[in-house]
Amino acid sequence: MQIIRDRGELDAALEALRADGGAVAMVPTMGALHAGHMALVEEARRRAAHVVVSIFVNPTQFGANEDLSRYPRREGSDAQMLGAADVAILWAPDVDTMYPNGPEASVKAGSAAQGLDGDSRPGHFDGVATVVARLFEQVKPDVAVFGEKDYQQLLVIRQMVAARKLKVEIVGLPTQRDADGLALSSRNIYLTDEERLAARALPRALGEAAQAMIDGGDVAEILARAEERLAAAGFDPIDYAALRDAETFAPMDRLDRPARLLAAAKLGSTRLIDNLPVIPSI
Ligand code: PAJ
Repeated sequence: MQIIRDRGELDAALEALRADGGAVAMVPTMGALHAGHMALVEEARRRAAHVVVSIFVNPTQFGANEDLSRYPRREGSDAQMLGAADVAILWAPDVDTMYPNGPEASVKAGSAAQGLDGDSRPGHFDGVATVVARLFEQVKPDVAVFGEKDYQQLLVIRQMVAARKLKVEIVGLPTQRDADGLALSSRNIYLTDEERLAARALPRALGEAAQAMIDGGDVAEILARAEERLAAAGFDPIDYAALRDAETFAPMDRLDRPARLLAAAKLGSTRLIDNLPVIPSI
């Protein structure tokens, strides 16, 4: 695996890969890799001859009071994992290489960015859309793989690709979880032992709420109950528990079409997010 930090070197390495034939699949990440990221890499490997993974902790998607400076950085062990997974190129630019004119979000995220994390994290999705558009310009992948763990982000990226008419297929992969159901996340390492136990309430509350909706319960009541359950487990504040159309991301108050149930809340100093598909029974 080549570890590349320079644009010129990246262009040369990509040219060599393409001369070799076969498609290029990309997995954008912010590093501190875990089994969730590695599942994306394996999917990329299944879909293309060559895999490019990027590691870039993107300043334009962090708010002023967020965890940019303490975001975990573990490039040595990340590179080892990626090398063992048959990745061709690790693209690891620094901030000046990614943002030669300064770290500004220049791409406006589409309608999927409205509400939920778009409200809790103002500007976040413009930063995500900007950096992913730039990564796609640099690497020009045929396919790119993202996790459903960040479901709103996945829709924002699909809209960005459609709006810019980019020729890249976007693949979404189901969330990888620990044995007790907690979604794997680079941020889980912030949790104390006690918080890690309490964190199980998030996937459990979502699972129960999803089932109650499928059983025909009132959506607003079920969402309120899920929030109460999270509060009882020690989550504070609860940013949202919400039901959205799985494709358009429009808010839903009745389960009459495929939906996504999403929640975000803080446990101590750590913000956790999770979501589940909710398909009405016929
Ligand atoms: P990061 O949080 O590092 O996540 C990189 C990719 O891994 C995203 O597509 C995310 O959805 C996916 N992922 C994270 N945890 C997962 C899990 N438990 N199961 C499956 N997939 C999981 O998301 C970002 O970085 C950034 O916003 C990025 C897209 C790289 C732009 O900066």
